[in-house]
Amino acid sequence: MRMVDLIEKKRDGNELSTKEIEYIITKYTNGEIPDYQISALLMAIFYQDMTDREITDLTLAIAHSGDVIDLSPLDGIKVDKHSTGGVGDTTTLILAPLVASVGVTVAKMSGRGLGYTGGTLDKLEAIPGFQIELSDEAFIRIVNESKVAVIGQSGNLAPADKKLYALRDVTATVDSIPLIASSIMSKKIAAGADAIVLDVTTGDGAFMKNIEDARRLAKTMTSIGKLAHRQTVAVISDMSEPLGEAIGNSLEVVEAIETLNGNGPEDLLEMCYALGSQMVVLANQAATIEEARSLLQEALESGKALDKFKEMIRNQGGDDSIVDQPERLLTAKYVVELPAKSSGIVSKLVANELGIAAMMLGSGRKTKEDDIDHAVGLKLNKKIGDPVKEGESLLTIYSNTKEISSVQELLYQNIQISDSAEKPTLIHDIITE
Ligand code: URA
Ligand code: CA
Repeated sequence: MRMVDLIEKKRDGNELSTKEIEYIITKYTNGEIPDYQISALLMAIFYQDMTDREITDLTLAIAHSGDVIDLSPLDGIKVDKHSTGGVGDTTTLILAPLVASVGVTVAKMSGRGLGYTGGTLDKLEAIPGFQIELSDEAFIRIVNESKVAVIGQSGNLAPADKKLYALRDVTATVDSIPLIASSIMSKKIAAGADAIVLDVTTGDGAFMKNIEDARRLAKTMTSIGKLAHRQTVAVISDMSEPLGEAIGNSLEVVEAIETLNGNGPEDLLEMCYALGSQMVVLANQAATIEEARSLLQEALESGKALDKFKEMIRNQGGDDSIVDQPERLLTAKYVVELPAKSSGIVSKLVANELGIAAMMLGSGRKTKEDDIDHAVGLKLNKKIGDPVKEGESLLTIYSNTKEISSVQELLYQNIQISDSAEKPTLIHDIITE
């Protein structure tokens, strides 16, 4: 096989065989195919697309380019959840203990944040003492005893994806549906998932800026799931405004605790029920979505889910007393309100730009090497569709520096107040195979 012939084949719109795709990914991972040839292939895929069969082969080849985690020592169906990216997306912190408290096995590997999207690991590390690294033995033991653990990805998970993603980033080939779908699904499969619930976000804060593209990505990923024998469901959700009210690591831990206490923001809670009930059904812990939802509601209202969160924190070395005193996490030196400049209805809260504002305060990373400040971020006091009076606080800024004028300026540029506005629809569609 010659790489140049495979590039030509894809360039001319032909289908690559399973063997050809395996050849490309194996040789690229080993360093036997140079970046410039893969760059050309990525651009050919960008323009010519791939069939579901090709995308599935690509997904499996990437998944098998490194370690594939064996979760078979764990009882039950292992259901994983993944979001294609959001701002203030606190769902994993809530969902992991919530679904575990009704019997779902949650053996989750999460990632760190980069750019304006946050990462679950960074949020968990805002909890004093919380360990995101566990030995394989400890991970398996804790999940078997307690149903839930959330840890960092092992170093050698889908190495082909790391190389491909870095190359896509500098060759303008990130926003290609076959490449996004295979990138996401390969990591879920390598992490040992039997079944997968996807949150495919759409809007300013998401990869997919419109619903049609989000639906195509969702359909592609559920098809891969079917062909790869992993039952997959995709929820298409809105990310034009941030999810919930908190953006920033400690603030989101507090928001997760409040939500598990029954006092969380409505949209965040609804998102957790929507994704959680799909997870419960895929894990065979309920026969229908309605039944799953009432199980989750009962777990939340009885305090069972909150107790599970405490247990999860304790099991991973964290200080679970913060669950009863969450205000201890809010240590930012400066707490500053952002007053509305006029009266009206909030009509825009541009999610990605608010994410960037939080990042500028120090809650996120501009590059992989940056350190983050867990204490800082934003807390929205108004969401789209809410009335506001001139002078009333739109949001609260938590900062460790006094100099926040450029953050304030960016925030004002991305919050709009109009005569009228409707609350965005939170869940646009649910895609199953
Ligand atoms: N998230 C991923 O993991 N990969 C992509 O290609 C896009 C989003
Ligand atoms: Ca949030």
